[in-house]
Amino acid sequence: MVKVYHDNDIDEKVLKGKTVAVIGYGSQGRAQALNMKESGVNVVIGLRSGKSWKQAEADGLKVMTVIEAAKAADVVLMLVPDMAQPIVWNEEVSLGMSKGKTLQFAHGFNIHFGVIEPPKDIDVIMVAPKSPGPEMRRQYENGFGVPALVAVHQNATGNALKTALAIAKALGSGKAGVIETTYKYETESDLFGEQAVLCGGADQLIRRGFKVLVEAGYPPELAYFEVCNELKLIVDLIYKSGISGMYRAVSDTAKWGGLTVGPMIVDDHVEQNMRKALKEVQNGTFAKSWTQEYKEGSKKFRALVEECDNLEIEKVGKQVRKMSGLEK
Ligand SMILES: NC(=O)c1ccc[n+]([C@@H]2O[C@H](COP(=O)([O-])OP(=O)(O)OC[C@H]3O[C@@H](n4cnc5c(N)ncnc54)[C@H](OP(=O)(O)O)[C@@H]3O)[C@@H](O)[C@H]2O)c1
Ligand SMILES: [Mg+2]
Repeated sequence: MVKVYHDNDIDEKVLKGKTVAVIGYGSQGRAQALNMKESGVNVVIGLRSGKSWKQAEADGLKVMTVIEAAKAADVVLMLVPDMAQPIVWNEEVSLGMSKGKTLQFAHGFNIHFGVIEPPKDIDVIMVAPKSPGPEMRRQYENGFGVPALVAVHQNATGNALKTALAIAKALGSGKAGVIETTYKYETESDLFGEQAVLCGGADQLIRRGFKVLVEAGYPPELAYFEVCNELKLIVDLIYKSGISGMYRAVSDTAKWGGLTVGPMIVDDHVEQNMRKALKEVQNGTFAKSWTQEYKEGSKKFRALVEECDNLEIEKVGKQVRKMSGLEK
């Protein structure tokens, strides 16, 4: 069984008198900085000048350059995009680190795949909230939190896990549960999950379901409702009460259809593809190709994002969401 910590198991006093620098102010950076500040942590933000800088200042936070923030802090949270982290680390953050400080990530990519190699005399920890930043912020504002994973890569001070747990508590995650794991497990399972099921898998199921219905002559608006809009309602049921709970809430016809036709749609062949994706995560093939793509200017990456923006389902979806008041 994994080890799970809640607020009562965690001593937040290890952060007393310490300064925590949040580097980057995007999805995770903003949510984490605001949650920690409201939990009483002394937070500073490290950024380059630009949009994020203005936003962080407007939110009432103390903003400085990345090097200044890393120098001022005892704990440094790397919350710029994974692909930007190696340069930000080499050229800025590393210059502000010294013996006994803590470097923290929200995802293990650069440490696990050896892209960033921190000096041995600092703690290297992970606090990975299992949620997009805005949702983590929303939960915190409602007096709750999202679950998080914590892990230790280097324990130079002997206090690395305690620091990670205290940060997780300050983010609100101690209310939902903080699970202790390793950099390897977090990195590989996170990449697999987003590729096979959450982002990639769900995207392809929706896209292909929409394509099949529209090709067969069904109105695109109807197709959008059936294979995309309603997915949220089904996922909400699964989130709250599991797969069985979802099946208990739908009609018997949907139960029978789902349980018998589902395995024909997502079949053993798909499972084989999932194994292949997992292997490529584990042996570093994925990390290498993504790092390479980023280094070469992300041309293919941008083309794929653009292709998605131009799908028919995206155009129809926008109209439908406007019509039903979901989007302005
Ligand atoms: N997004 C999520 O829901 C999520 C969930 C769990 C874990 N994580 C992990 O959290 C980390 C951060 O991800 P994210 O999605 O929050 O990132 P993000 O929103 O894309 O981060 C954008 C922020 O990074 C800054 N930035 C980008 N390049 C920079 C550079 N070269 N120097 C200084 N600042 C720079 C941007 O500033 P400018 O405005 O100046 O460009 C902006 O403030 C990653 O390790 C990710 O895997 C993310
Ligand atoms: Mg991820």
